[in-house]
Amino acid sequence: MNKPVVYSGIQPTGIITIGNYIGAITNWLKLSDEYDCIYGIADLHALTVRQVPAEYRQRAMSFFAQYLACGLDPRKNVLYFQSHVHEHAELSWILNCFTYIGEMQRMTQFKDKSQKHQDNINIGLLDYPVLMAADILLYQTSLVPVGADQKQHLEITRDIAIRFNNLYSPTFTVPEAYIPKQGARVFSLQDPTAKMSKSDPDPNAAVSIIEDPDSIMRKFRRAVTDSDSVVRYDPELKPGVSNLMTIMSEMGGMSIEEIEKNYSDKGYAAFKSACAEAVIERLRPVRERYASLTTDKEYLAGIAKEGAVRASAIARRTMSKVKRKVGLVELK
Ligand code: TRP
Repeated sequence: MNKPVVYSGIQPTGIITIGNYIGAITNWLKLSDEYDCIYGIADLHALTVRQVPAEYRQRAMSFFAQYLACGLDPRKNVLYFQSHVHEHAELSWILNCFTYIGEMQRMTQFKDKSQKHQDNINIGLLDYPVLMAADILLYQTSLVPVGADQKQHLEITRDIAIRFNNLYSPTFTVPEAYIPKQGARVFSLQDPTAKMSKSDPDPNAAVSIIEDPDSIMRKFRRAVTDSDSVVRYDPELKPGVSNLMTIMSEMGGMSIEEIEKNYSDKGYAAFKSACAEAVIERLRPVRERYASLTTDKEYLAGIAKEGAVRASAIARRTMSKVKRKVGLVELK
C-alpha cells in the first residue's frame, strides 16, 4: 500500500440510514482514487451489548451487502469483517497495557452506555476505545472519517499511538480526523434537533437505505415540521423543514434555492411527498442491488474472504513490528 490509508468501522446494529449514506458513504465512493480505503464491519465492538446470535449474524452480513449495494467496489476498497482478522483482538490486548483505566472511565460513550446498560457494564464496554484504536492503528491509518460522537475515541487513539511511539520508536502512523469537504448533517425525522441515529428506538425517526418505498413515503409524511406552511431554509427557526430540504437536496440533486423556489408555497404535504420521492428514486439502485446480492450468499462469502485476506496481510505486518518492539520472542 502506498496511498494514505482511510479507515472506518461500523457496528452492525440498528440500520444503515440515509444519514449514513449522505454524510459518509457517498463521500467514500470518491475517496478510493486518492486513498487506500478500508471499511470494517465492527462486529467485535457490538458484542459489548447483548445481541441475539442468529439475528446478529444476519445483520452483520446484511450490513456488508448494503455497503456493496451502495457501490463500494471491493476491488478498490478493502471491505471485511473485524472478527475475521484476529490481529484486532491481539493488538487490542497489547494496547491495553499502554492505556490507563482512568482514561477509559472518562470516555463519554462509556459513561452513557454504562447508564443505559446498568446490568451489563462489562470490561468490553470500558475497553471499547482500545479495540477501536487497534482497528485504526493496525492499518497505519492516516485519516479516519468520524462524526462528533467518535471524536473522543479518535483522540485517545492518537494518545495511545504517540505514547507507544515515544516509548519504543515510530511504530504507528498517528491518525487524524477526516472532515469531508462537503457532507451534510441529517437529523431525526421526529426530532430535528437530534442527529439521525442508526439505533433510534422510534422507527419513524430514521430511514434505512434499503427501506421499501411505501414505508419511506409514510415516514416522510409523518416527519415533524412546524406550524406554519412555508418551505424555507432556516435551520434555527424551522429545523424540521430545513432538514427535509437538506435530504431532498442531497438525494435529488436540487439546490436548496431551487427547492425553496419550487415548493415555498406548495404546502408541507406536497413538499414532504416530493422529498420522499427523491429519496425513493435515489435509493432504487441500492435496493435492487441489495436484493440481488442477498440471493447470492456464495458471492458475498467470497468477497468477505477476499477482504479478510487483504486486511490480514496489512495487519500482520503491523503486528509483527509491535511484537518485536515490546520484546516478545519471535516464532521462527
Ligand atoms: N465506534 C464506531 C462507531 O460506533 C465504529 C468503529 C469501530 C470505528 N471501529 C472503528 C470507526 C474504527 C472508525 C474507525 O461509530
